Amino acid sequence: MIIEARNISKTFKNGNKTLQVLKDINFSVRQNEMVALMGVSGSGKSTLLHILGLINKPDSGDIYFLNNKVEFKDKKLLAKIRNENIGFVFQFYSLISELNVIENVMLPSIIKNSSYKKDRAMQLLNSVGIERDMAYKMVYKLSGGEMQRVALARALMNNPDLVIADEPTANLDKTSSIDIVTTMRNINLEERKAFIIATHSEEIALMCDRVFIINGGTISEKNN
Ligand SMILES: Nc1ncnc2c1ncn2[C@@H]1O[C@H](COP(=O)(O)OP(=O)(O)OP(=O)(O)O)[C@@H](O)[C@H]1O
Ligand SMILES: [Mg+2]
Repeated sequence: MIIEARNISKTFKNGNKTLQVLKDINFSVRQNEMVALMGVSGSGKSTLLHILGLINKPDSGDIYFLNNKVEFKDKKLLAKIRNENIGFVFQFYSLISELNVIENVMLPSIIKNSSYKKDRAMQLLNSVGIERDMAYKMVYKLSGGEMQRVALARALMNNPDLVIADEPTANLDKTSSIDIVTTMRNINLEERKAFIIATHSEEIALMCDRVFIINGGTISEKNN
């Protein structure tokens, strides 16, 4: 398994109200697998992805990353795994608007060991379908679909084992959505990286190996 969640629970407190979003969830993804995570708005997809991405800590339960139990107390190790083993793509691109395209893509390698791997960044941009002459454009000048491709290139920069994408196509039209997920699928198949994609789109779910649905705090696998 690339990642495994065992008996994960998560509750949020809003004033004196408590909301249990995840109830004793068990979920795992194999290496090389691409899975979709579905469920209505507010069902807990992002909450689960943040825990799987080691961005947030569960109240109880454990995460195993590459069969090692994650110690959420070890912030330094968490940061290292997030930077080197997991790539993130979010709904709102989360690129740095003060930087150009290639600088955004190189960021994870700069964080890792201060290396400016321009050739690799160029190659990744090419593999996600961004033209060479766009590499020095400021990112605020790009369309949503282009930004999401750049975000995907950046997520791949440190050659992660797992890419977590939280509604990566929510702001894109249908054609761009299918395009970007097709690109993800090709990378998944060719480079044997695992992908977990939260989505509301049945069409995208059909492109995945397995589909999971969160409902009422629990998760179940859907028969495709
Ligand atoms: N940090 C937080 N503090 C309090 N409540 C939160 C927090 N994060 C999420 N929630 C609540 O937990 C529930 C699940 O939210 P989550 O963002 O995981 O849903 P989602 O399935 O990703 O929804 P969407 O499809 O709209 O993105 C929601 O009711 C949300 O308001
Ligand atoms: Mg969400």
